Amino acid sequence: METKIIKISEDDVSEDKFREAGQIIRDGGLVAFATETVYGLGADALNKEASAKIYAAKGRPSDNPLIVHIADVKALDELAKDVDEKTRMLAEAFWPGPLTMIVNKSDIVPYSITGGLDTVAIRMPNHRVALGLIKASGRYIAAPSANTSGRPSTTKAEHVIEDLNGKIDMIIDSGAVKIGLESTIVDMTSKVPTILRPGYITREALSDVIGEVEVDKAITEGGMVSKDVVPKAPGMKYRHYAPKAALTIVEGEEEKVIKYIEEKMAEHKKRGEKAAVMATDESMDKYSCDNVFSVGRRKEQTSVATHLFAQLRDFDDLNMEYIYSESFSRENIGQAIMNRLMKAAGGNIVRL
Ligand code: TXA
Ligand code: MG
Repeated sequence: METKIIKISEDDVSEDKFREAGQIIRDGGLVAFATETVYGLGADALNKEASAKIYAAKGRPSDNPLIVHIADVKALDELAKDVDEKTRMLAEAFWPGPLTMIVNKSDIVPYSITGGLDTVAIRMPNHRVALGLIKASGRYIAAPSANTSGRPSTTKAEHVIEDLNGKIDMIIDSGAVKIGLESTIVDMTSKVPTILRPGYITREALSDVIGEVEVDKAITEGGMVSKDVVPKAPGMKYRHYAPKAALTIVEGEEEKVIKYIEEKMAEHKKRGEKAAVMATDESMDKYSCDNVFSVGRRKEQTSVATHLFAQLRDFDDLNMEYIYSESFSRENIGQAIMNRLMKAAGGNIVRL
């Protein structure tokens, strides 16, 4: 299949720009588009054949449900039933924005996009191109992250082209995304609303609006899946975001971390293996080895969040076999950063 690549900037989202993309969605095709979090791979959410194509293009397991993207809060009452007051309060406070809510699905939502569950994930993205596409299509758009299953999510159109060119109908290039990590997912059907995937909207921010909020055990216990703790978001049980290299996170005092990583790098060099360091703007000049890259400014968590997936993909492009990453604070969006990093590392962390 030939993939058409077009550019739409957030600065110019006039209706005519979306004519062809909207038609592709209505015809049951696939369009990749930017959101404020990561790029999404969209299809008509209520068309079973269309959403089946998403699973095929990504190589995604069929029990892993999709998020339905909407452009108007009213859609909540069509897609969900028994919507409670707290859900409405969060919608009011954070939509459009990087928050996905799990609610009881209405009868119009096919089980094929919920992985057979009676619940559905809904989000209104805060990106003019995403909203423009949803409106132009006149449909609700089911969209997982636009990456091959298992690879880091895509934060630039180039990444989407790398993973999905030739497999989907269209890619809309809107440049780099702002946040760089996928939305916060909150299960509104549990007794106490529960975060299933941490993101830019923190537990504190949610609590300020609705009071008590829990965090799924699978996240608090290190972001890794143990045999005893099965995550409630089916997608969180898979190894994810993984670069091809073996990634090790090194946690501890800066001096010790640098010394440990330098020793490891020297060993790899001796053996002729390709290894790299994921450092920060603040630390990168303190290393004496080669292949030191910065993922962003440690002092500014959003800068690390934005560049994390892109940096992991860059290591793949450089054919690295081993990566050593510094560790990050788990405060605020640090919880989301460490959750993704731990998954990318398959839970491999060295504590000094
Ligand atoms: O920021 C985002 O959320 C991006 C952009 C494109 O909107 N989308 C995204 O979708 O990250 P995806 O498919 O890569 O991740 C969706 C996650 C998966 O872990 C899935 O298992 C979970 O949401 N999920 C979806 N529906 C669910 C449900 N009914 N119950 C529990 N978890 C659900
Ligand atoms: Mg994903």
